[in-house]
Amino acid sequence: MSSDVAKFGDTASEIEQDMNSTELIAKDSVMARLKLETRPAHDRIESVPFSMMMQEGRLPRARFAGKLACWLAVHGTLEAAIRECDDDACVAVWRETMARTSHLRNDLACHGEMDMPPAAATATLKTVGWLASLGARDPRALLGCLYVLEGSKLGGTILRKCLDDAYKCGPEALSYFWASGTSPMPDFKAFKERMELALTTDDDRDRVIAAASGMFDHLTDVLDGLLCNLDTSGAESEPAPEGVCPFGHG
Ligand code: HEM
Repeated sequence: MSSDVAKFGDTASEIEQDMNSTELIAKDSVMARLKLETRPAHDRIESVPFSMMMQEGRLPRARFAGKLACWLAVHGTLEAAIRECDDDACVAVWRETMARTSHLRNDLACHGEMDMPPAAATATLKTVGWLASLGARDPRALLGCLYVLEGSKLGGTILRKCLDDAYKCGPEALSYFWASGTSPMPDFKAFKERMELALTTDDDRDRVIAAASGMFDHLTDVLDGLLCNLDTSGAESEPAPEGVCPFGHG
């Protein structure tokens, strides 16, 4: 695991500043379109009660372990499909350093008992099945799904602080959120550049964006499934203003 897991890094405002100051990407580029066109889906997943409970430190730890297990199945399927396909764009974008299944396995082992409601398992299997069939008919579109997981590292810098505050588990048990070290920005910028170079036609871009929206929706269903039998009162808040942790962390 990364050696710089010892200290917390970026705040949301640092991320935003960094993104704004280096935004050299044209408005109709695939990355600009991904950000803009999946924004409503991002706002939804960020504000579902499960996400709010993680940020508030009110999520039972076994349920957090259940989420890691769901994510492990999703990452495992997506990473293998991209790694093993011979689509030129996938080959150009994928780097083995982007794989996070080993981080998820490490973290799962740290959090003890796992609680996964059947609805979460069902939604995860649906996601895995959807990824497998998308990969079989249009592997290039999987890059949209990869964007969703890579981009989630940005919000992860907020979450890792909230989760460590809640579980007092230390960063070693949250290695999934530290996979790009203190700041995910250099990796994310390099990923964006590879995506721009690899996805040059409108048709490619449209398919990748549709896949990213589908990925957000599937993962939102998984998080909804993980809520089963939890008291969600007080976790129905509006999303925080852009780039701001609603609970004052970061
Ligand atoms: C749980 C609460 C979450 C918070 C507080 C959060 C917060 C953030 C923040 C601060 C950024 C960077 C600033 C911005 O571009 O607006 C960001 C970007 C992003 N997040 Fe989240 N996020 C959360 C959940 C998620 C989840 C669950 C996913 C997907 C699995 C996700 C996917 C993304 C993506 C793809 C981006 C990159 C947007 C882009 O620049 O193209 N986020 N998030």
